[in-house]
Amino acid sequence: MLLRVSLRARLIASILLVLLLSLGAGCASAGWNAARSVRAEMQAALVVGEQAVRHGLEDLPGSQDTLADLQQLVQAFDGDRHVRAALLDAAGRVLAASALPHPAQPAPGWFVRLVAPVLTPERLPVETEAGRRVVVLEAEPLNEAGEVWTQLRDSLAILALSCTLSAALVSLVVGRALRPLQRVSTALAAVGAGEYAVRLPQTGPSELAGLTQGFNAMAARLSLAEAQNRRLHEQLVTLQEEERADLARDLHDEVGPFLFTAALDAAAIEQAAATGQHAAIPERALAIREAVGHMQRHVRAMLKRLRLASPVEVGLAPALGNIVAFWQAHRPTIAFTLEISADEDELDEATKAVIYRVAQEALSNAVRHGRPGRVEVAVAPGDDGSVVVRVSDDGIGMTDVTEPGLGLAGMRERVSALGGALQVVGAPGGRGLAVTARLPCGAEGGARPATAAAA
Ligand SMILES: Nc1ncnc2c1ncn2[C@@H]1O[C@H](COP(=O)(O)OP(=O)(O)OP(=O)(O)O)[C@@H](O)[C@H]1O
Ligand SMILES: [Mg+2]
Repeated sequence: MLLRVSLRARLIASILLVLLLSLGAGCASAGWNAARSVRAEMQAALVVGEQAVRHGLEDLPGSQDTLADLQQLVQAFDGDRHVRAALLDAAGRVLAASALPHPAQPAPGWFVRLVAPVLTPERLPVETEAGRRVVVLEAEPLNEAGEVWTQLRDSLAILALSCTLSAALVSLVVGRALRPLQRVSTALAAVGAGEYAVRLPQTGPSELAGLTQGFNAMAARLSLAEAQNRRLHEQLVTLQEEERADLARDLHDEVGPFLFTAALDAAAIEQAAATGQHAAIPERALAIREAVGHMQRHVRAMLKRLRLASPVEVGLAPALGNIVAFWQAHRPTIAFTLEISADEDELDEATKAVIYRVAQEALSNAVRHGRPGRVEVAVAPGDDGSVVVRVSDDGIGMTDVTEPGLGLAGMRERVSALGGALQVVGAPGGRGLAVTARLPCGAEGGARPATAAAA
């Protein structure tokens, strides 16, 4: 399984690694310097001690008691922190030795071993009346090592403290800086779950401000698109319900009376046959045949309406006639006109479908938004071999659009997919709106993008 380490942990770990490496390098360099300084100090102390002993020995020939003077010379080193002096007889026995002070801050044994230099003791022989004596001077690193150890320990403690503080500070700053990312991730998960109302506050470092702005813009567009979808769906449902109600009315108004009269005629025939009035029967039978024929035509028309695969399958003129009739029936106070002067046979299916869709949406917009008294639909040949569909109304015209819908955009997309152009302008005369789509005539084999919009 892939181990996911957070960005924060990675940053802190890498910074800690650098700090620890610096700390290690600092320790190594300090240890090396400490060993050098202890050695230099010890060597210097031995030289000074040797000079002091030589001076003392120079005065010996005039001495009354050479042995006592030698012992005094050795004891003059009492309290010396770096050199121990001793007086030995010819057999190497210690006759006198100086006392070393105890280090105030003793260094641990490993550190003393690490920094203590290996120095050969100085041996200064003296001939006395009692025989040969030797003054031995030996370097003693305990005190110097203790001193260096104290300095080193304090410096390392300060370094370690500053490393810890830096790591804590970096952790804090990185944590605060990355908090907005956590919010972005939560918000994205919410959007993924379909909650488009979520928005991010515009806070945090400048690098993330663009991200939150982009997120908010995306969420806003998504909620808008969702609202439009919902509205379209509601419209669709309404249209379907109106269509069903229309069919029900047709059945009721057109078929119902004929069924009723056919039933009456059948009963009359039955009665005429029973009472022997055979002369009345052909007239009644003809009436039944006419009623059945009427019903057949209506039922076939309704079946066609139900089974239409393409709205223009019936032809552009009847299809446009249907929408105009539909709106006329639902808005009887508006005067609708439809004028088709273009030759339908010169248009291919895709062009007819786009003409239909443009007229459908522009008509619906005019009725829904324009409050018009008159709406005109015209399909005419253009002057450059194109076909022009135009829907104009005398309504309130285009006001400030606060919430753009999908209708105009959809029309524009369909028209430009066929290589045409769409214009939405105020209608001439100052009132209302005119939507004009100019399309190349597809049936003549004009240039046509491969992805022509279908209905
Ligand atoms: N004939 C018109 N008269 C007045 N205003 C119009 C007319 N046609 C369009 N508009 C304005 O233009 C806006 C955009 O129209 P569009 O068809 O793109 O969206 P919609 O009709 O609001 O929603 P949708 O078509 O997605 O259901 C409308 O909301 C309306 O304000
Ligand atoms: Mg619309």
